[in-house]
Parts: sequence; structure tokens; C-alpha cells
Amino acid sequence: MSTVADNKPAEEPDFQKMTLDTFMKMSDDERSKLSATARKKWIKLEKKAQDKSRKEEEARERAAAENAARLERAKQIKIELDLSLPPAKQLKIRDLSKYVDQRVKIYGWVHHLRTDGKKLWFIDLRDGTGFAQIVLTGEMCMTYEAATLYREAAIAVYGKWVKDEKGRAQGTFPGYELAADFWELVGPSCADIDMLFTKDSNPDILMNQRHLVLRGSKASSVMRMRSIITHCFREHFFDRGYTELSPPTLVNTQCEGGSTLFNFNYFEDDGYLTQSSQLYLETGIAAVNDCFCILPSYRAEKSQTRRHLAEFHHIEAERPFITFEDLLETIEDLVCDVIDRVGKKMESDMDTFLRASGGKPIPKLERPFLRMTYEDAVKYCREHGIYKDPETKEHFEFGDDIPEKPERQMTDEINRPIMLIKFPASLKSFYMQKCDDDKRLTESVDLLLPGVGEVVGGSMRMWDMDELMEAYKKEGMDPAPYYWFTDQRKYGTCPHGGYGLGLERFICALLGIHHIRDACLYPRYRGRIAP
Ligand code: 4AD
Repeated sequence: MSTVADNKPAEEPDFQKMTLDTFMKMSDDERSKLSATARKKWIKLEKKAQDKSRKEEEARERAAAENAARLERAKQIKIELDLSLPPAKQLKIRDLSKYVDQRVKIYGWVHHLRTDGKKLWFIDLRDGTGFAQIVLTGEMCMTYEAATLYREAAIAVYGKWVKDEKGRAQGTFPGYELAADFWELVGPSCADIDMLFTKDSNPDILMNQRHLVLRGSKASSVMRMRSIITHCFREHFFDRGYTELSPPTLVNTQCEGGSTLFNFNYFEDDGYLTQSSQLYLETGIAAVNDCFCILPSYRAEKSQTRRHLAEFHHIEAERPFITFEDLLETIEDLVCDVIDRVGKKMESDMDTFLRASGGKPIPKLERPFLRMTYEDAVKYCREHGIYKDPETKEHFEFGDDIPEKPERQMTDEINRPIMLIKFPASLKSFYMQKCDDDKRLTESVDLLLPGVGEVVGGSMRMWDMDELMEAYKKEGMDPAPYYWFTDQRKYGTCPHGGYGLGLERFICALLGIHHIRDACLYPRYRGRIAP
């Protein structure tokens, strides 16, 4: 018995599966093998598609011609600065509020542009000190520069800073706007600016475009906050009588173990990027007493986590003639005082801060900080179902390193700052002073903050020469390149201690930023060295 299918030409494709695109790509020979009905149907569809694409092409050509004509017309329109008007004082946006009803000139970048008809434009202008609504009217909206004005162009605007009658103007001074009488283009932008990324683009795209992302209100607020926070650290140190020193960051010694050292060819020698300025800072105490530095440190961290960078800014301090208890109080004083200072500086700019932090106010930290020994942390983990290996439910034992994840889980559960103290010597760096009452332990401290985890690492420093020589040996370190560090123990040694605070982690804790890369201008982590 024959079927309909049997009557089709043998090579005829399955109509259900064939697409118009497949048909349009077929040669005449291939088409001739289709049944007459099918060929007719596909030819009709092909013609329809061709008509549509021709119409689209014509529309594009018409639009291009209209645009060219519009630009030609725009070229004929010239606006001029009216010299009979009162002189305009050049200002930054942040200072505008003092100049209501006066004629001013401001420079900035077009943050946002909206048109309300051909002859009424609103520009949100940004100059990095604030945002101001600009109103352009009449021919000011019709020049060639206006027709080719895109977001991020740099412009200069002259006009009167006035109350916005409709009260709709946003920006740094809501309810006020600049009624422009003249404007000029300083540096044009390009039409592709809106296609480069959106705020929801994936992090890699956003990092590739970091130089432009930084202009956004959130990223620029974080950078401004970072500057304020850094300033508050300096204020704290100067207020407490510290001297700022600048140790080298190209070094030939390690400080925090070989596994995270970046090495490079330093002319004829081997060099490292410093992991910490601590060893050099220690040599400063006999020169200037309490001292600090704010410099980059480098770690070749293999793992990519939301709190690890390859380059971070390290706030480090050293103090002579102190006890371990003094050190703990010093760290507590630093963190609380800096948070207070930041809070006070931000009082007048709280809106910007809240925008940057995603609405979280600066946390108030309860003093004194909880102090917990390493031994008690192991006990806490055992009693609260925080496992060394969650799969096998293996418990932590004394001597185990408590890695980042369980440490953060414990901190988040306790939900207040924890000073984790007295770590076993086997887990810590060679230079740490041992506890008098238990030589297995060190006079060491990590400050853990909820949400971020470890923000500060510090310790008392080994100050006995023989003990230090023994420590080099135990770590398999050649003491020769450390002669200047060892000499501190030879010429007037003394008990001393210090700490290092990761600026970016601190910023994350303070502003509620989830990922550390967002606290940096141009973050460096594995896989990212540009831009
Ligand atoms: O605990 P760490 O490794 O201590 C030291 O480097 C000491 N030499 C500091 C000193 O006593 N002067 O690092 C101190 C702090 C950490 O608590 C953390 O905040 C930050 O530096 N840190 C990092 N931040 C971002 N990315 C990394 N890869 C970091 N490694 C350390």
C-alpha cells in the first residue's frame, strides 16, 4: 500500500524541520527537487522576507538621510555667550548652594540626558563633587553639539542657579537647578556609551570597563568613602602621636611564608613584592617610637574568594615597650576611633554614604570586644556543629588551622567583633613572641568582624636574639638577608608589638560591601591584571 510520503520526491526535506533560512540558502538545483506545492509556499515566504528586509533597509536609509539633514541644519545654528550678562563665577557643584540666584559656570560630565520636546532638555551633570540638574532651552538644544551630545561628554555650562519651580530637580541640592544661558562642548562622547555594560552585566564585563564603571554614583561614592576612611586612619595615628614611615615594597625577604610570595627579577638579584611592611616598620621604633604605614602588600593567593586580593592596602603599626594587653587595647582603640571619626565626617553626607553602602548605617561596635582564645574557638566549633570536614563531620582538634569559612560562620553566629588570641606557634609566622605561661602558644591576635571575618592580624614580636635565630632555623629560613631585622635584637632590643589591618576588608565591613573587588579602584586578583 502506498502512502503520501511515498509519493514525495526522495530528497525533499521535512517541511516541519526546514527553516526559511535553509530554503533561502538552497541552490536552484536543490529547489527543483522540492514538490511544486512546497516550492510555491517557500518562494512566497521568501518574497515576504525579502520585502520586509528591503523596507527595513529603506527605513534605515531614510533615517540616516534625515539625521544627516538634521545635523546639517544644526550646523547652521550657532549660540553665543552673552557678554552683557553679569560675569559667571566658575564653581564646583558642591559649592553651588551658596550661589542661589547668581550666574555661575560649571564644568562636568553628562550623567543623564532627557528631552522634553525639541527645545527643552534636562541634563544631570556630574563633576565628581556632586550632581546638578541643568535646563537647556531653545536654540541651546538645537546646535550641532547638542545633536551629537551623548552621555559622559564633558561640557561647560553658564547660567543662573535657581529654585526649580516644579520642585522636581534631583541631585546634590534637590529643588534647585541651573537655568542655562549658554553651554559648550569640552570633550565629546560616543553613541556606543550605553552599549558597553549595564549595572547587571557580569562582573568580568564590569571589571573590563572599570574605568567607566567608576564614574557611576555607587562606585564613585565607595571611592570617596575609601578616601575618607584612609584619611581617618591617618588622623587617628597622628592624633595618638605616631610617625608615618614609608618602607620599601620591593624586598628580598619574606614575612608571611613562602607560599604567597610574588617574585621578580630585580636587576641582577631576585626580588619579592612585599607581603607586609612589618619587618621594616619594626626597625622604625628605635628611631621614632610609635610608627605606622599605609602601603600596598602583595599576596600570590591562589584561591579566589570574596575577601582575597593579590594587592591590598595594608595599614600597619608598631609600638615599643608595650604588653600583649596593650596591643589588644591599641587595636580596639584604632577600630572604634576610626569608625567614630568616619561617622562624624559622614554626618553631612549621609545620603551619599547610605547609597554607597546599600542602605546600611555604619555599625556601632560594642566595647570591649569579645576576647576568645584559639583553644576556646576550637571548643566553640566542636560544640556548635562547625566541622573541619562537614561531609565526614570531623571535628577540629587543637593545632588545626581554622580556615576562612568556619571562622566566618563562628563570627557571624556570635555576631560581634571577636579578638581571637593565642594561636599555636605552629600556625603562625616565625616572628611571633611565645606566651610566657605556655610556650606552645603565641601572643597573637586576629580581629574578626561579622560579615567579613579577619580584618586585623597582629602579635607581640619575638625580641630575644637566640629565640629568633632558632625560629629562622625551624622555618628553614636563611638568616643572612634578615641581618638588619636580627640586629634589632642585638642593639637595644625591647618588647614590642604591632598589627596589620587590611583596608579593603575594613571598608567592606564598614560599608556592607559583599565583594572586596568593589572596594578597590582597580582590583588585582588571580586572573585580573587589567585595566
Ligand atoms: O594576618 P596578616 O597576614 O598579617 C601580616 O601580614 C602581619 N605581618 C601584619 C602586621 O602584624 N604588621 O595580614 C594582616 C591583614 C589581614 O587581617 C587582612 O585584613 C589583610 O591584612 N590581608 C588581606 N587583605 C586582602 N587580600 C589578601 N590576600 C590579604 N591578606 C591579608
